[in-house]
Amino acid sequence: MTASTTPAGGWPVAIAGLGVRLPDRVVTNDDLAEVLDTSDEWIRTRTGIRQRHVAAPEEATSDLAAAAARDALADAGLEAAALAAVIVATTSPDHAVSATAPLVASALGVAVPAFDLNAACSGFVYALRVASGMVATGDGAVLVVGAETLTRVVDPEDRSVAVLFGDGAGAVVLVPDPDARLGPFVLGADGGGASMLWTASGGTRRPFDAEVLADRSHYLTMRGGDVYRNAVVRMTESAREVLELAELSVGDVDLLVGHQANVRILDAVAARLGLPAQLSQVSLDRHGNTSAASIPLALWDAREQGKLRDGDTVLLAAFGAGATWGACLLTWKER
Ligand code: UT7
Repeated sequence: MTASTTPAGGWPVAIAGLGVRLPDRVVTNDDLAEVLDTSDEWIRTRTGIRQRHVAAPEEATSDLAAAAARDALADAGLEAAALAAVIVATTSPDHAVSATAPLVASALGVAVPAFDLNAACSGFVYALRVASGMVATGDGAVLVVGAETLTRVVDPEDRSVAVLFGDGAGAVVLVPDPDARLGPFVLGADGGGASMLWTASGGTRRPFDAEVLADRSHYLTMRGGDVYRNAVVRMTESAREVLELAELSVGDVDLLVGHQANVRILDAVAARLGLPAQLSQVSLDRHGNTSAASIPLALWDAREQGKLRDGDTVLLAAFGAGATWGACLLTWKER
């Protein structure tokens, strides 16, 4: 079931700063076609992806997250000392135990509450929901980072997933702002759909051992068609519910920033909502699917392209492993 979880008007919270980190190494479709039985043509026409960034061997999720966080703090004109909490949305943490967020807070030089949130590709929307409540109820500025190194979790020999994912991080600093809105939010989850997209082994259900290593079941597997269909339905439904809650129509939306998995999913969601395709941000052509990082990376990309103006109503929508999904509205504030 999808649940409404915030005031219809959203929380009086704004994005004060936005920052990103994309690893230096770019891997094109042609590069992948040299090592896998695939082609630029297949990847482009099925997904819209042209290239993705891949972390260097010494880079892990917390390194990308900390770099994006520093960028976001500089953008906000704030010192890390101003932060009340750090939330990292990730499904590819540095370690199974412990969390990535404390490493990020430590890299920033602060000892504030810091925790991870794993809702896979919906993680950034989920984390915004948690953080907005904290900011609105008096905690102060909260850093939300979506960060992933999913290229470490996919089987490099499995063309059905290896071509889809990329690494990166995007961060926002949320602050109280009576003139802004963050929300309402609609979030949902259905664990019955977990096996559509998961790593079957390597967790507590089936711990990593020699057998797992041999059958490669610690790598990510996906029933692509099922995920595709569910993503279109859930992203569209939750976006519609959010607009209804806010008593807005699709004509009030200045930009849709959907989870960047497949341009065909984004086009189908926009078409079902009745939103012109040019009002849907597409960044996956250059980033691939970066899971929890994809929405903040796409927001940043939209700002770089001059597509965000002060007061704009931005609609976010995501679907991911879990299965999880969610949507929310935000007011873009130029600073
Ligand atoms: O981030 C979380 C959410 N994730 C998503 O939203 C992903 C959702 N799913 C998708 O985007 C699409 O389902 C995919 C892009 C993953 C796959 O596209 P598709 O149109 O559903 O292709 P398919 O899986 O039905 O495969 C079609 C064919 C198959 O060959 P046969 O059986 O028709 O002979 C595959 O073996 O394409 C083949 N194929 C490939 N060919 C070249 C699969 N991967 C590749 C590849 N290169 N990389």
